[in-house]
Amino acid sequence: MPFPANKDVSIQPASLEYARPLYELINSDRTHLSQWMNWVEMTQRVEDTISYVQIGIEQYRKGIGAQYMVFCRQHLCGMISFNRIEKNNRIGLVGYWLAREFCGKGIMTTALRQLIEIGFDEFQLNKIEVRCAVGNHSSQAIPERLGFNFDGVLRENEYLNGVFVDHKVYSILRREYPSSHSQN
Ligand SMILES: CC(C)(COP(=O)(O)OP(=O)(O)OC[C@H]1O[C@@H](n2cnc3c(N)ncnc32)[C@H](O)[C@@H]1OP(=O)(O)O)[C@@H](O)C(=O)NCCC(=O)NCCS
Repeated sequence: MPFPANKDVSIQPASLEYARPLYELINSDRTHLSQWMNWVEMTQRVEDTISYVQIGIEQYRKGIGAQYMVFCRQHLCGMISFNRIEKNNRIGLVGYWLAREFCGKGIMTTALRQLIEIGFDEFQLNKIEVRCAVGNHSSQAIPERLGFNFDGVLRENEYLNGVFVDHKVYSILRREYPSSHSQN
């Protein structure tokens, strides 16, 4: 796929209609995805992805999370989510992944920019946070590219492929985001 323009990338709320294509994307790319995400191993059947999307829809209804599918020129490429929204504190915790064939083109950076807009506009968040395993440089580069602050390291914050890994924490505040959001 040639390099996409920003307008070629869109994020759409996750829906059950796409559970099977999502599962197939995960299933076709296990080695790449499981390196940094421990849920991949637990996704063994399409029913697992259906349950995951159902839980996401319920979380969205309660305002405590939100999942989006990432598309580039009509191709389903991966997902980006607020894995958790802390309503009281108005913090959203972001997770994301792309199938390998869609990596290296700026798609996730564009998707995160769109999620930030949703977080500050729709969910009225004050802070959006990304946590990346210390060795996951491609993931860290995304919040760095978008001007997030590096807040520090959470020690042994995830059990991944048999070892505890530290997480680098990045965040952006509503008032730091370069748009009209800073007025509110
Ligand atoms: C993390 C992950 C989404 C990063 O994917 P990515 O393709 O590197 O990220 P982007 O889509 O933003 O693309 C950035 C790349 O495109 C290039 N690029 C091209 N055009 C670009 C543009 N307009 N804007 C930004 N980057 C652009 C960048 O230079 C960068 O390439 P490089 O790494 O060779 O320098 C991907 O590696 C992944 O899914 N990994 C497995 C799951 C995972 O680790 N998830 C995160 C857990 S915290």
